[in-house]
Amino acid sequence: MGLNQLVLATRNRDKVKEIRHIMMNGHWEFLSLLDFPEMAEVAEDGKTLLDNALKKARAAYRWTKTASIADDTGLEVDQLNGDPGVRSSRFAGENVSYRDNNEKLLRLLQDVPREKRTARFRCIVVFADGRKEKWVEGICEGIVLSEYCGVGGFGYDPLFYVPEKGKTFAEMSREEKNAISHRGKAFRLMGEWLKNVLD
Ligand code: IMP
Repeated sequence: MGLNQLVLATRNRDKVKEIRHIMMNGHWEFLSLLDFPEMAEVAEDGKTLLDNALKKARAAYRWTKTASIADDTGLEVDQLNGDPGVRSSRFAGENVSYRDNNEKLLRLLQDVPREKRTARFRCIVVFADGRKEKWVEGICEGIVLSEYCGVGGFGYDPLFYVPEKGKTFAEMSREEKNAISHRGKAFRLMGEWLKNVLD
């Protein structure tokens, strides 16, 4: 029996590697948009994470004619009324570095005490194959530190402290992070759903 093909609607090699690792179980042959270089970029201009993930999954399916999954993630800081949220990658402006975003976050939370620095990563994953659509969500709760801690990971990882582990995402191994992260939870849920639907 041939494997089911699944397109990961991203061109980010690190993401492709991470998602393959999380969902790996011999059920799928994973492709990504790196295999479809002619497909145009999809603007992530939705008002919510779900809007963006839906838009990316539908666009990937339309272009590739293959079942597709897409994700969108945001960091929601309670003291900032849920910001940066859907704007997490461009919090400090267009084409900014992770460092610029982190510095803005530190600045905005400058005088906020630890107990009020609560935040969460939310990851939405969408499946679309022209007939069915399904979305799932993964959440990881934490605290935004007032200084950087750890050198691993990417994005807001050095500031995002997970109390249940006693360390930041940037201090965790890839396996440790995947086991508890928003993305790990969401993709495992999607993996379970897909297994039942596609078998
Ligand atoms: P994306 O939707 O996965 O591209 O994530 C949007 C933005 O959220 C990224 O540019 C990062 O700044 C941030 N982000 C997403 N996931 C993580 C994570 O696991 N750790 C730290 N930052 C993240």
